Amino acid sequence: MTILGIETSCDETSAAVLIDGEVKSNVISSQLVHTEFGGVVPELASRAHIQFIIPVVESALSKANISKFELDGIAVTYAPGLMGALLVGVNFAKSLAFGLNIPFIGVNHLQAHIYSNFLSIQKPTYPFICLVVSGGHTILVLIEEPFKHKILGETLDDAAGEAFDKVAKMLNVGYPGGPIIDKLAKKGNRNAIKFPRTLTLENEFDFSFSGLKTSVLYYLRDNHFIQNGNGLNINETQLADICASFQTAVVDVLTNKLLAAAKKYNVTNVAIAGGVSANSELRNKMKTLRDENNLHLHIPAFQYCTDNGAMIAMVGQMKLERGITSSIDIVPVANIGIG
Ligand code: KG4
Ligand code: ZN
Repeated sequence: MTILGIETSCDETSAAVLIDGEVKSNVISSQLVHTEFGGVVPELASRAHIQFIIPVVESALSKANISKFELDGIAVTYAPGLMGALLVGVNFAKSLAFGLNIPFIGVNHLQAHIYSNFLSIQKPTYPFICLVVSGGHTILVLIEEPFKHKILGETLDDAAGEAFDKVAKMLNVGYPGGPIIDKLAKKGNRNAIKFPRTLTLENEFDFSFSGLKTSVLYYLRDNHFIQNGNGLNINETQLADICASFQTAVVDVLTNKLLAAAKKYNVTNVAIAGGVSANSELRNKMKTLRDENNLHLHIPAFQYCTDNGAMIAMVGQMKLERGITSSIDIVPVANIGIG
């Protein structure tokens, strides 16, 4: 089965070809237009998707060494995401599928992050618990069987990736913040500053990161690191220590809850997914916890953590195998849960 997967929900234009579960190409064009604004500008994202969608799809087909006539189906992210950005991918995919007279499959982006774990040779077995941590979402999900999802908890305020991005903005280190903080943290002392961990909430598996984010701001203010209109007055060691201490606080909360959920639901298969699952400390900590608790751990390969077409194609294949396709009338939805 040969599937083309297209992803345009945020600031990555991506297309991938999956043949019988194997990634033959995964082309990702990350939009650089947002960097100077310190965050994604929706209208600029839509325009960049329009500019890149055709060359990205053509490149995915040519790298996979196939022609479009060999495709069995086209899968595309239809929700959740930025409306204008989703519209570009969905309309392009619909037109191509209609023209080729092949099935069209609308894919939920959050489900795609979960099932990105099936791009690995070692696939999760059911039931498994997945922590989806991206720029827009932080969700703990129990997957009982394919496409049967039970949400155990989610963030009440900022998503984990959003917290990384906002703290990076406070520290004036650039966008997207996650990979930059990850790199800076390597030179810092993770025990230098004791930032708060919000662990006790009404639902034990919910998350909250706004208190942590605010405490980084207070730390900068109280230590007179914030200069009036002149950025930060901070040296390299102080910056690295803040990054390392903040990152450890996020990783502590995420891993603590994932482990507690695995114990409560008596599940030994655990997975992480989404942009923040690219974080080196989170990946390492999960491996330690796997060894200490006899878990089967699944972590997507680095290139499948952040947004990519391959994970969309994977869900497309899983759905097509089950005879599930979408109507050509399907419309993008900006805000929607995991389904
Ligand atoms: O899954 P993703 O590409 O897009 C969404 O669906 O939102 O996730 C993007 C998020 C951004 O917030 C980015 O800062 C974060 O993932 N991220 C990281 C790392 N790489 C990307 N966060 C922490 N450490 C990283 N290495
Ligand atoms: Zn994503």
